[in-house]
Amino acid sequence: MLVSPRLLYSHCYGRYAIPAVNVFTMEQVLALFASAHRAEAPILVQLTPVARNYAHPVMLQAMIQAAGHIYPDVVYAIHLDHGNEEHAIAALEQGYTSVMIDASHDPFDINIERTRLVVEKAHTHGIVVEAELGVLSGVEDDLSVEEVDAKYTNPQQAKEFVERSGCDSLAVAVGTSHGAYKFSGGQGIQFHILERIQELLPGFPLVLHGSSCVDPEVVKAINQYGGKLKPDASGVKDEELKKAIQLGICKVNIATDLRLLWTRDHREFFTSQPELIDPVVPGRKYMQSFEAFMLKRFELMGAAGQSRALQPLIQEIQHTIIGQE
Ligand code: 13P
Repeated sequence: MLVSPRLLYSHCYGRYAIPAVNVFTMEQVLALFASAHRAEAPILVQLTPVARNYAHPVMLQAMIQAAGHIYPDVVYAIHLDHGNEEHAIAALEQGYTSVMIDASHDPFDINIERTRLVVEKAHTHGIVVEAELGVLSGVEDDLSVEEVDAKYTNPQQAKEFVERSGCDSLAVAVGTSHGAYKFSGGQGIQFHILERIQELLPGFPLVLHGSSCVDPEVVKAINQYGGKLKPDASGVKDEELKKAIQLGICKVNIATDLRLLWTRDHREFFTSQPELIDPVVPGRKYMQSFEAFMLKRFELMGAAGQSRALQPLIQEIQHTIIGQE
């Protein structure tokens, strides 16, 4: 069942979060839907411009639609991750129910203006918009306090940004960054900032980018099979994630963890079965690892079983739509 994240956020706020999983390949799409089906958990399937360029938007859309047919009970939204205006406008015509406009590297007023223009277009299609304020990047040891603070989302600005841009959810920079090396400065999630944002924007859905946990065992296995990941690879701790969810994080973005599993499973296959030339063997293993990982994440985020709880809300919306036709 394809739904709007608006419905998902209104249900999960402050209680649980929806994993937003970046997909690039058939194995990832199929394993994501299989795991959501098994856990009865709602999901956001998210596609970056790189994914759209790699697999072609039509192919991605067809794969997701096919997975929705195979698992008709899965409650999901399709989201554009880190798009610009061009991607967002294309996505409005391509069956997405949510788009992100990422103008976070622009000055505050320009970020608002670019976001507002996408919001105006998206809302006429009934599609919701995620925006980003603050800079998601690693905080290195040699930065001054002012330089570090400038990267984080300013809570007062977050309130003004939401009011002026009309966005439906906001990605906040509270210490995480994309990739396997999140906390090189050892700082972790800045809860005092998140708490203040929640105080100023009560009930407003917040998004955590860079939420992978970067399991040290997976990193170790990758290096055992010839990888060269640095020992300071680390991610968001389970307890941090749970606390962030209570503070209004509704959408939890995950990409790196699933790349690490892909790398481990394929490196292991090439090393331990050098006589084989079969894409199915590592592909199947990867889908199993992906599914097992997601089942644990659904539990941790409180999303397991929530698809059932969402049914009355979904039916209510379907009745309203039928009534309007
Ligand atoms: P990770 O790199 O932590 O998986 O974050 C992914 C993300 O935020 C995609 O937008």
